[in-house]
Amino acid sequence: MATESITELASIIATSTAQVSAYLDQNGLPQPSFAVTGPSTSQIPPSEVEIESARLTAIDATQRLRNLLLGPHDFLTSITPSEWISFQAVARFGLASCVPIDGSASCATLAAACGLPESTTRRLLRHAVVKNVFCEAGPDGVAHNAVSRLLAEKPTLNAWLRFNTGDSWSAASQTVEALARWHGSEEPNETGFTLASGTGLGMYDTYAVQPERGERFANSMKNLTESPGFDAGHLVAGYDWASLKSAVVVDLGGSHGAVARRLVESFPTLSVVVQDLAEVIAQAPPSQTHISFMSHDFFTPQPVVADVYLFRWILHNWSDKYCAAADLIMLQLFNSKERDMEDWAALFETADSRFRFQGGRLPTGSRLSVLEAVWEG
Ligand SMILES: C[S@@+](CC[C@H](N)C(=O)[O-])C[C@H]1O[C@@H](n2cnc3c(N)ncnc32)[C@H](O)[C@@H]1O
Repeated sequence: MATESITELASIIATSTAQVSAYLDQNGLPQPSFAVTGPSTSQIPPSEVEIESARLTAIDATQRLRNLLLGPHDFLTSITPSEWISFQAVARFGLASCVPIDGSASCATLAAACGLPESTTRRLLRHAVVKNVFCEAGPDGVAHNAVSRLLAEKPTLNAWLRFNTGDSWSAASQTVEALARWHGSEEPNETGFTLASGTGLGMYDTYAVQPERGERFANSMKNLTESPGFDAGHLVAGYDWASLKSAVVVDLGGSHGAVARRLVESFPTLSVVVQDLAEVIAQAPPSQTHISFMSHDFFTPQPVVADVYLFRWILHNWSDKYCAAADLIMLQLFNSKERDMEDWAALFETADSRFRFQGGRLPTGSRLSVLEAVWEG
Protein backbone atom coordinates (compact mmCIF):
# COMPACT_ATOMS: atom_id res chain seq x y z
CA MET A 1 0.00 0.00 0.00
CA ALA A 2 1.53 3.33 -1.08
CA THR A 3 1.99 5.80 1.77
CA GLU A 4 2.66 9.03 -0.09
CA SER A 5 1.59 12.29 1.50
CA ILE A 6 -0.93 14.46 -0.30
CA THR A 7 1.80 16.90 -1.35
CA GLU A 8 3.94 14.05 -2.75
CA LEU A 9 0.95 12.82 -4.76
CA ALA A 10 0.24 16.34 -5.99
CA SER A 11 3.85 16.60 -7.11
CA ILE A 12 3.66 13.23 -8.96
CA ILE A 13 0.50 14.47 -10.71
CA ALA A 14 2.15 17.78 -11.66
CA THR A 15 5.26 16.09 -13.08
CA SER A 16 3.41 13.42 -15.07
CA THR A 17 0.75 15.72 -16.47
CA ALA A 18 3.45 18.20 -17.55
CA GLN A 19 5.16 15.33 -19.41
CA VAL A 20 1.90 14.37 -21.16
CA SER A 21 1.01 17.96 -21.96
CA ALA A 22 4.47 18.73 -23.43
CA TYR A 23 4.30 15.59 -25.60
CA LEU A 24 0.90 16.62 -26.99
CA ASP A 25 2.10 20.17 -27.72
CA GLN A 26 5.34 19.00 -29.33
CA ASN A 27 3.42 16.66 -31.62
CA GLY A 28 0.66 19.10 -32.53
CA LEU A 29 -1.94 16.96 -30.77
CA PRO A 30 -4.98 18.38 -28.95
CA GLN A 31 -4.95 18.67 -25.17
CA PRO A 32 -7.62 16.63 -23.31
CA SER A 33 -10.91 18.51 -23.20
CA PHE A 34 -14.56 17.68 -22.70
CA ALA A 35 -15.56 20.55 -24.98
CA VAL A 36 -17.70 19.29 -27.85
CA THR A 37 -14.75 19.50 -30.27
CA GLY A 38 -12.37 17.79 -27.83
CA PRO A 39 -10.66 14.47 -28.67
CA SER A 40 -12.75 11.39 -27.92
CA THR A 41 -9.85 9.17 -26.83
CA SER A 42 -6.33 9.53 -25.50
CA GLN A 43 -4.10 10.91 -28.24
CA ILE A 44 -1.01 9.04 -27.04
CA PRO A 45 -0.11 6.18 -29.41
CA PRO A 46 0.59 2.76 -27.77
CA SER A 47 4.19 2.92 -29.04
CA GLU A 48 4.87 5.92 -26.73
CA VAL A 49 5.33 3.67 -23.72
CA GLU A 50 6.92 6.32 -21.45
CA ILE A 51 4.28 9.00 -22.11
CA GLU A 52 1.46 6.48 -21.72
CA SER A 53 2.99 5.39 -18.42
CA ALA A 54 3.09 9.06 -17.27
CA ARG A 55 -0.60 9.40 -18.18
CA LEU A 56 -1.52 6.26 -16.19
CA THR A 57 0.63 7.42 -13.26
CA ALA A 58 -1.25 10.75 -13.19
CA ILE A 59 -4.64 8.98 -13.29
CA ASP A 60 -3.68 6.60 -10.49
CA ALA A 61 -2.16 9.33 -8.30
CA THR A 62 -5.22 11.53 -8.85
CA GLN A 63 -7.49 8.80 -7.51
CA ARG A 64 -5.25 8.16 -4.51
CA LEU A 65 -5.05 11.89 -3.78
CA ARG A 66 -8.83 12.23 -3.93
CA ASN A 67 -9.33 9.31 -1.55
CA LEU A 68 -6.76 10.61 0.93
CA LEU A 69 -8.32 14.07 0.90
CA LEU A 70 -11.75 12.54 1.53
CA GLY A 71 -10.51 10.47 4.49
CA PRO A 72 -11.85 7.02 5.50
CA HIS A 73 -15.37 8.08 6.53
CA ASP A 74 -16.14 10.29 3.55
CA PHE A 75 -14.38 7.86 1.22
CA LEU A 76 -16.83 5.11 2.23
CA THR A 77 -19.91 7.32 2.17
CA SER A 78 -18.93 8.67 -1.25
CA ILE A 79 -19.61 5.21 -2.77
CA THR A 80 -23.12 5.71 -4.15
CA PRO A 81 -24.59 3.38 -6.78
CA SER A 82 -27.33 5.93 -7.49
CA GLU A 83 -24.62 7.82 -9.41
CA TRP A 84 -25.28 5.37 -12.22
CA ILE A 85 -28.94 6.26 -12.64
CA SER A 86 -28.41 9.20 -14.98
CA PHE A 87 -25.87 7.24 -17.06
CA GLN A 88 -28.39 4.41 -17.36
CA ALA A 89 -31.17 6.83 -18.35
CA VAL A 90 -29.00 8.50 -20.98
CA ALA A 91 -28.10 5.11 -22.51
CA ARG A 92 -31.50 3.44 -22.21
CA PHE A 93 -33.50 6.32 -23.66
CA GLY A 94 -30.83 7.15 -26.24
CA LEU A 95 -30.85 10.79 -25.05
CA ALA A 96 -27.55 11.67 -26.70
CA SER A 97 -28.91 10.92 -30.16
CA CYS A 98 -31.96 13.15 -29.44
CA VAL A 99 -29.75 16.26 -29.17
CA PRO A 100 -28.58 17.81 -32.48
CA ILE A 101 -24.78 17.67 -32.80
CA ASP A 102 -24.47 21.41 -33.45
CA GLY A 103 -27.49 22.61 -31.48
CA SER A 104 -29.29 22.04 -28.21
CA ALA A 105 -32.51 20.44 -26.95
CA SER A 106 -34.87 21.55 -24.21
CA CYS A 107 -35.88 19.33 -21.30
CA ALA A 108 -39.43 19.31 -22.73
CA THR A 109 -38.19 17.93 -26.07
CA LEU A 110 -36.10 15.25 -24.40
CA ALA A 111 -38.94 14.35 -22.00
CA ALA A 112 -41.21 13.81 -24.98
CA ALA A 113 -38.53 11.69 -26.69
CA CYS A 114 -38.09 9.35 -23.73
CA GLY A 115 -41.68 9.38 -22.45
CA LEU A 116 -40.78 10.55 -18.95
CA PRO A 117 -42.30 13.48 -16.99
CA GLU A 118 -40.48 16.72 -17.79
CA SER A 119 -39.44 17.34 -14.17
CA THR A 120 -37.88 13.84 -13.93
CA THR A 121 -36.05 14.34 -17.22
CA ARG A 122 -34.71 17.66 -15.93
CA ARG A 123 -33.36 16.02 -12.76
CA LEU A 124 -31.71 13.23 -14.74
CA LEU A 125 -30.14 15.69 -17.15
CA ARG A 126 -28.83 17.94 -14.38
CA HIS A 127 -27.18 14.95 -12.80
CA ALA A 128 -25.79 13.83 -16.16
CA VAL A 129 -24.28 17.32 -16.70
CA VAL A 130 -22.58 17.17 -13.29
CA LYS A 131 -21.20 13.75 -14.28
CA ASN A 132 -19.69 15.14 -17.52
CA VAL A 133 -22.38 14.03 -19.98
CA PHE A 134 -23.84 17.03 -21.92
CA CYS A 135 -23.38 20.66 -20.95
CA GLU A 136 -26.05 23.17 -20.01
CA ALA A 137 -27.53 25.24 -22.85
CA GLY A 138 -29.75 28.17 -21.97
CA PRO A 139 -32.07 28.17 -18.98
CA ASP A 140 -33.63 24.75 -19.59
CA GLY A 141 -31.74 22.72 -22.14
CA VAL A 142 -28.60 20.76 -22.89
CA ALA A 143 -26.06 20.70 -25.70
CA HIS A 144 -23.35 18.20 -26.46
CA ASN A 145 -19.96 17.99 -24.88
CA ALA A 146 -17.32 15.52 -26.11
CA VAL A 147 -18.80 12.67 -24.05
CA SER A 148 -22.43 12.97 -25.15
CA ARG A 149 -21.35 13.65 -28.73
CA LEU A 150 -19.41 10.39 -28.77
CA LEU A 151 -22.47 8.53 -27.44
CA ALA A 152 -24.60 10.11 -30.17
CA GLU A 153 -22.15 9.26 -32.92
CA LYS A 154 -21.23 5.74 -31.78
CA PRO A 155 -24.33 3.56 -31.23
CA THR A 156 -22.17 0.63 -30.09
CA LEU A 157 -20.78 2.80 -27.27
CA ASN A 158 -24.33 3.67 -26.22
CA ALA A 159 -25.11 -0.08 -26.28
CA TRP A 160 -22.05 -0.73 -24.12
CA LEU A 161 -23.13 1.92 -21.60
CA ARG A 162 -26.62 0.45 -21.60
CA PHE A 163 -25.31 -3.08 -20.98
CA ASN A 164 -22.86 -1.90 -18.33
CA THR A 165 -25.40 0.20 -16.42
CA GLY A 166 -28.17 -2.36 -17.03
CA ASP A 167 -27.54 -6.11 -17.14
CA SER A 168 -24.02 -5.83 -15.78
CA TRP A 169 -24.93 -3.43 -12.96
CA SER A 170 -27.90 -5.52 -11.83
CA ALA A 171 -25.75 -8.68 -12.00
CA ALA A 172 -23.09 -6.97 -9.87
CA SER A 173 -25.68 -6.05 -7.24
CA GLN A 174 -26.62 -9.74 -6.85
CA THR A 175 -23.14 -11.28 -7.04
CA VAL A 176 -22.43 -11.45 -3.30
CA GLU A 177 -25.91 -12.94 -2.77
CA ALA A 178 -25.08 -15.57 -5.42
CA LEU A 179 -21.77 -16.31 -3.69
CA ALA A 180 -23.59 -16.79 -0.39
CA ARG A 181 -26.27 -18.98 -1.97
CA TRP A 182 -24.08 -21.14 -4.25
CA HIS A 183 -20.78 -21.17 -2.37
CA GLY A 184 -17.88 -22.03 -4.70
CA SER A 185 -20.12 -22.70 -7.70
CA GLU A 186 -18.57 -22.73 -11.19
CA GLU A 187 -21.95 -23.00 -12.89
CA PRO A 188 -22.91 -20.20 -15.31
CA ASN A 189 -26.51 -20.36 -14.04
CA GLU A 190 -25.60 -19.74 -10.38
CA THR A 191 -24.37 -16.17 -10.74
CA GLY A 192 -25.33 -12.61 -9.91
CA PHE A 193 -26.64 -12.41 -13.47
CA THR A 194 -28.94 -15.43 -12.91
CA LEU A 195 -30.45 -13.89 -9.77
CA ALA A 196 -30.84 -10.43 -11.30
CA SER A 197 -32.41 -11.71 -14.51
CA GLY A 198 -34.89 -13.92 -12.66
CA THR A 199 -34.67 -16.47 -15.47
CA GLY A 200 -32.80 -19.18 -13.56
CA LEU A 201 -30.49 -19.32 -16.60
CA GLY A 202 -26.93 -18.29 -17.36
CA MET A 203 -26.24 -15.20 -19.44
CA TYR A 204 -25.96 -16.76 -22.89
CA ASP A 205 -28.98 -19.02 -22.29
CA THR A 206 -30.97 -15.98 -21.15
CA TYR A 207 -30.02 -14.11 -24.29
CA ALA A 208 -31.03 -17.11 -26.40
CA VAL A 209 -34.60 -16.86 -25.08
CA GLN A 210 -34.56 -13.03 -24.98
CA PRO A 211 -32.94 -12.20 -28.33
CA GLU A 212 -33.56 -8.44 -28.03
CA ARG A 213 -31.34 -8.36 -24.93
CA GLY A 214 -28.85 -10.64 -26.68
CA GLU A 215 -28.70 -8.24 -29.62
CA ARG A 216 -27.90 -5.37 -27.24
CA PHE A 217 -25.12 -7.42 -25.65
CA ALA A 218 -23.73 -8.27 -29.11
CA ASN A 219 -23.72 -4.55 -29.98
CA SER A 220 -22.00 -3.64 -26.73
CA MET A 221 -19.32 -6.26 -27.46
CA LYS A 222 -18.82 -4.63 -30.87
CA ASN A 223 -17.79 -1.47 -29.06
CA LEU A 224 -15.06 -3.40 -27.26
CA THR A 225 -13.91 -5.19 -30.41
CA GLU A 226 -13.72 -1.83 -32.21
CA SER A 227 -11.47 -0.32 -29.51
CA PRO A 228 -7.74 -0.29 -30.33
CA GLY A 229 -6.63 -2.66 -27.53
CA PHE A 230 -9.01 -5.39 -28.79
CA ASP A 231 -8.43 -4.89 -32.50
CA ALA A 232 -8.33 -8.22 -34.35
CA GLY A 233 -5.23 -6.85 -36.12
CA HIS A 234 -3.20 -7.77 -33.02
CA LEU A 235 -4.12 -11.44 -33.56
CA VAL A 236 -3.43 -11.19 -37.30
CA ALA A 237 0.02 -9.67 -36.72
CA GLY A 238 0.77 -11.52 -33.47
CA TYR A 239 1.04 -15.05 -34.88
CA ASP A 240 2.88 -16.64 -37.80
CA TRP A 241 -0.26 -17.37 -39.86
CA ALA A 242 1.76 -17.37 -43.11
CA SER A 243 3.51 -20.57 -42.00
CA LEU A 244 0.11 -22.34 -41.98
CA LYS A 245 -0.26 -21.84 -45.76
CA SER A 246 -3.66 -23.29 -46.79
CA ALA A 247 -4.68 -24.45 -43.33
CA VAL A 248 -8.27 -24.86 -42.16
CA VAL A 249 -8.99 -22.75 -39.09
CA VAL A 250 -12.07 -23.30 -36.94
CA ASP A 251 -12.99 -20.09 -35.12
CA LEU A 252 -15.01 -21.31 -32.11
CA GLY A 253 -17.44 -18.72 -30.78
CA GLY A 254 -16.47 -16.63 -33.79
CA SER A 255 -19.75 -14.70 -33.75
CA HIS A 256 -20.45 -13.01 -37.10
CA GLY A 257 -16.98 -13.61 -38.52
CA ALA A 258 -15.30 -10.23 -37.92
CA VAL A 259 -12.02 -11.90 -36.91
CA ALA A 260 -12.27 -14.49 -39.72
CA ARG A 261 -12.59 -11.70 -42.31
CA ARG A 262 -9.49 -9.94 -40.99
CA LEU A 263 -7.52 -13.21 -41.09
CA VAL A 264 -8.54 -14.09 -44.63
CA GLU A 265 -7.90 -10.53 -45.88
CA SER A 266 -4.27 -10.83 -44.75
CA PHE A 267 -3.79 -14.56 -45.43
CA PRO A 268 -6.08 -15.41 -48.37
CA THR A 269 -4.94 -19.05 -48.53
CA LEU A 270 -6.47 -19.79 -45.11
CA SER A 271 -10.01 -21.19 -44.88
CA VAL A 272 -11.96 -20.29 -41.77
CA VAL A 273 -15.02 -22.10 -40.44
CA VAL A 274 -16.81 -19.75 -38.05
CA GLN A 275 -18.81 -21.58 -35.41
CA ASP A 276 -21.20 -20.11 -32.87
CA LEU A 277 -24.55 -20.81 -31.23
CA ALA A 278 -27.46 -21.37 -33.63
CA GLU A 279 -29.18 -18.07 -32.77
CA VAL A 280 -25.96 -16.13 -33.42
CA ILE A 281 -25.24 -17.91 -36.72
CA ALA A 282 -28.83 -17.21 -37.80
CA GLN A 283 -27.92 -13.48 -37.84
CA ALA A 284 -24.51 -13.99 -39.52
CA PRO A 285 -23.77 -12.77 -43.08
CA PRO A 286 -23.77 -15.36 -45.88
CA SER A 287 -20.73 -17.60 -46.30
CA GLN A 288 -18.12 -16.32 -48.77
CA THR A 289 -14.94 -17.65 -50.34
CA HIS A 290 -12.74 -19.08 -47.59
CA ILE A 291 -15.22 -18.15 -44.81
CA SER A 292 -18.13 -20.41 -43.90
CA PHE A 293 -20.52 -20.26 -40.97
CA MET A 294 -21.75 -23.20 -38.95
CA SER A 295 -23.90 -23.49 -35.89
CA HIS A 296 -22.07 -25.50 -33.25
CA ASP A 297 -22.12 -25.55 -29.46
CA PHE A 298 -18.50 -25.87 -28.35
CA PHE A 299 -19.50 -28.12 -25.46
CA THR A 300 -20.45 -30.81 -27.96
CA PRO A 301 -17.95 -32.93 -30.00
CA GLN A 302 -16.20 -30.92 -32.70
CA PRO A 303 -17.42 -32.08 -36.16
CA VAL A 304 -14.72 -30.31 -38.22
CA VAL A 305 -11.20 -31.69 -38.59
CA ALA A 306 -8.94 -28.65 -38.84
CA ASP A 307 -5.33 -27.57 -38.46
CA VAL A 308 -6.07 -24.78 -35.99
CA TYR A 309 -8.85 -24.29 -33.45
CA LEU A 310 -9.05 -20.63 -32.56
CA PHE A 311 -10.65 -19.60 -29.25
CA ARG A 312 -10.58 -15.83 -29.28
CA TRP A 313 -12.08 -14.14 -26.25
CA ILE A 314 -14.02 -17.27 -25.37
CA LEU A 315 -12.44 -19.21 -22.55
CA HIS A 316 -12.56 -16.27 -20.12
CA ASN A 317 -16.37 -16.71 -20.16
CA TRP A 318 -16.15 -20.17 -18.63
CA SER A 319 -15.00 -21.54 -15.28
CA ASP A 320 -12.09 -24.04 -15.11
CA LYS A 321 -14.65 -26.82 -14.80
CA TYR A 322 -16.03 -25.94 -18.22
CA CYS A 323 -12.79 -24.92 -19.90
CA ALA A 324 -11.08 -28.09 -18.98
CA ALA A 325 -6.29 -10.18 -13.08
CA ALA A 326 -9.12 -11.99 -11.19
CA ASP A 327 -12.00 -10.17 -12.72
CA LEU A 328 -15.25 -9.49 -10.90
CA ILE A 329 -17.15 -8.89 -14.15
CA MET A 330 -16.38 -12.46 -15.18
CA LEU A 331 -17.59 -13.55 -11.73
CA GLN A 332 -20.85 -11.60 -11.79
CA LEU A 333 -21.81 -12.66 -15.32
CA PHE A 334 -20.37 -16.15 -15.73
CA ASN A 335 -18.80 -17.49 -12.47
CA SER A 336 -15.56 -17.48 -14.44
CA LYS A 337 -12.35 -15.46 -14.28
CA GLU A 338 -9.47 -13.93 -16.23
CA ARG A 339 -6.40 -16.19 -16.10
CA ASP A 340 -2.66 -15.54 -15.86
CA MET A 341 -0.06 -17.57 -17.79
CA GLU A 342 0.36 -20.21 -15.03
CA ASP A 343 -3.43 -20.65 -14.88
CA TRP A 344 -3.47 -21.28 -18.63
CA ALA A 345 -0.67 -23.86 -18.42
CA ALA A 346 -2.55 -25.64 -15.61
CA LEU A 347 -5.81 -25.45 -17.54
CA PHE A 348 -4.38 -27.21 -20.61
CA GLU A 349 -2.69 -29.80 -18.39
CA THR A 350 -6.00 -30.47 -16.61
CA ALA A 351 -7.89 -30.65 -19.91
CA ASP A 352 -5.53 -33.26 -21.37
CA SER A 353 -1.81 -33.83 -20.79
CA ARG A 354 -1.38 -34.35 -24.55
CA PHE A 355 -1.70 -30.58 -25.00
CA ARG A 356 1.74 -28.95 -25.19
CA PHE A 357 1.24 -25.38 -23.98
CA GLN A 358 3.61 -23.10 -25.90
CA GLY A 359 3.06 -20.01 -23.76
CA GLY A 360 1.88 -16.70 -25.08
CA ARG A 361 2.81 -13.13 -25.86
CA LEU A 362 1.06 -9.80 -25.68
CA PRO A 363 1.38 -7.87 -28.97
CA THR A 364 2.23 -4.17 -28.43
CA GLY A 365 -0.95 -2.17 -27.83
CA SER A 366 -3.13 -5.28 -27.49
CA ARG A 367 -5.23 -6.07 -24.45
CA LEU A 368 -5.49 -9.74 -25.44
CA SER A 369 -2.51 -12.13 -25.49
CA VAL A 370 -1.98 -14.75 -28.19
CA LEU A 371 -1.63 -18.19 -26.53
CA GLU A 372 -0.72 -21.39 -28.35
CA ALA A 373 -1.22 -25.04 -27.38
CA VAL A 374 -0.27 -27.87 -29.74
CA TRP A 375 -2.26 -31.10 -29.67
CA GLU A 376 0.14 -34.04 -29.58
CA GLY A 377 -2.43 -36.78 -29.18
C1 LIG B 1 -16.90 -12.59 -26.12
S1 LIG B 1 -17.63 -13.18 -27.59
C2 LIG B 1 -16.19 -13.39 -28.60
C3 LIG B 1 -16.48 -13.30 -30.08
C4 LIG B 1 -15.26 -13.48 -31.01
N1 LIG B 1 -14.56 -14.73 -30.82
C5 LIG B 1 -14.28 -12.34 -30.89
O1 LIG B 1 -13.11 -12.55 -30.59
O2 LIG B 1 -14.69 -11.18 -31.08
C6 LIG B 1 -18.08 -14.85 -27.11
C7 LIG B 1 -18.78 -15.64 -28.23
O3 LIG B 1 -18.92 -16.99 -27.79
C8 LIG B 1 -20.19 -17.46 -28.24
N2 LIG B 1 -20.59 -18.62 -27.43
C9 LIG B 1 -20.96 -18.64 -26.12
N3 LIG B 1 -21.24 -19.89 -25.74
C10 LIG B 1 -21.04 -20.69 -26.82
C11 LIG B 1 -21.14 -22.11 -27.04
N4 LIG B 1 -21.51 -22.93 -26.06
N5 LIG B 1 -20.85 -22.58 -28.27
C12 LIG B 1 -20.45 -21.74 -29.27
N6 LIG B 1 -20.33 -20.39 -29.12
C13 LIG B 1 -20.62 -19.89 -27.91
C14 LIG B 1 -21.08 -16.26 -28.05
O4 LIG B 1 -22.29 -16.36 -28.80
C15 LIG B 1 -20.17 -15.13 -28.53
O5 LIG B 1 -20.29 -14.90 -29.93
